[in-house]
Amino acid sequence: MTILFTPELAEDLIDLTIFSRQPHQLIPILQYCQSQNGYISRETVRQIADYLGVSEAHVYGVASFYTQFRFERPGDHQVRICLGTACHVQGGEILSEEIQKIIGIRPGEISQDQKFEFHEVACLGCCAQAPVVEVDGRIYGKVTRRKLQKVLRDHESI
Ligand code: FES
Repeated sequence: MTILFTPELAEDLIDLTIFSRQPHQLIPILQYCQSQNGYISRETVRQIADYLGVSEAHVYGVASFYTQFRFERPGDHQVRICLGTACHVQGGEILSEEIQKIIGIRPGEISQDQKFEFHEVACLGCCAQAPVVEVDGRIYGKVTRRKLQKVLRDHESI
């Protein structure tokens, strides 16, 4: 499995001294680092390996086993379109295409300027409001093309 890392940033370095230097601390440390930076960078892996006295390969191996850990910096704005049954029949696919046109990326991608990250998901749990889009954790129901454009424009200018 190939892990792609985004370039390290100065803020990737994290104070790990709140953890003991025990190998069993690896998962809590990974969770903490991800909560601080939003992802696990190559530099973070190096830092954890140094701190715990284990190899970087071991840290990669453990981190990549769990889907909760990501290795690239998240986009500033998280956009999710629901393509579950209720949303699908209410035009979710059309809205997904519209989102791709507006922000210029395909599902699963992050825009080059890091502004947006876009995903298609199965159900956001509010089917009565279909079609549904979620931006930065906020749900927008009964979305139309016009409403979608406004929501994305508002988030772009934040
Ligand atoms: S199918 Fe879209 S919210 Fe459930």
